[in-house]
Amino acid sequence: TERTLSIIKPDATGRNLTGKINAKFEDAGLRIVAQKRLQLTKAQAGEFYKVHAERPFFDELTTFMASGPVVAQVLEGEGAIAKNREVMGATNPADAESGTIRAEFAESVGENSVHGSDAPDTAKEEIAFFFSELEIVG
Ligand code: GTP
Ligand code: MG
Repeated sequence: TERTLSIIKPDATGRNLTGKINAKFEDAGLRIVAQKRLQLTKAQAGEFYKVHAERPFFDELTTFMASGPVVAQVLEGEGAIAKNREVMGATNPADAESGTIRAEFAESVGENSVHGSDAPDTAKEEIAFFFSELEIVG
């Protein structure tokens, strides 16, 4: 079984949607095996999203990610990385399939409610950014 890093972003925590989003994960067969709520500094958000450092939206992205609480979580299950991205829907909510988290809850391409790792190597790195092995209980 596979693990992926998920983040419920500040737009979603601000609208009190943590439980509804977690229900989507659990309904899809993903297990929440670690979870914590925290507020990132802008520098920490920049470190987390460093692959996007040269993108024009980097400043907007890191300002937003530091603007309120996030819920970082490890999701576990068969094909968890792909399954989570399926449940999240397309980056831009206007393109997201109905029933997905972003179709239902996201406000814009920037404020799109959730993050999910995109590959096994990034999942490993992103999980280690937030959690020690002791904090992950499958
Ligand atoms: P993540 O799971 O958050 O990584 O989303 P993704 O993999 O679907 O998208 P990608 O990695 O390409 O972009 C990372 C994040 O940058 C997105 O989730 C958005 O929050 C943000 N982002 C992407 N494109 C834009 C944009 O055009 N404008 C703004 N403001 N943010 C963007
Ligand atoms: Mg991405």
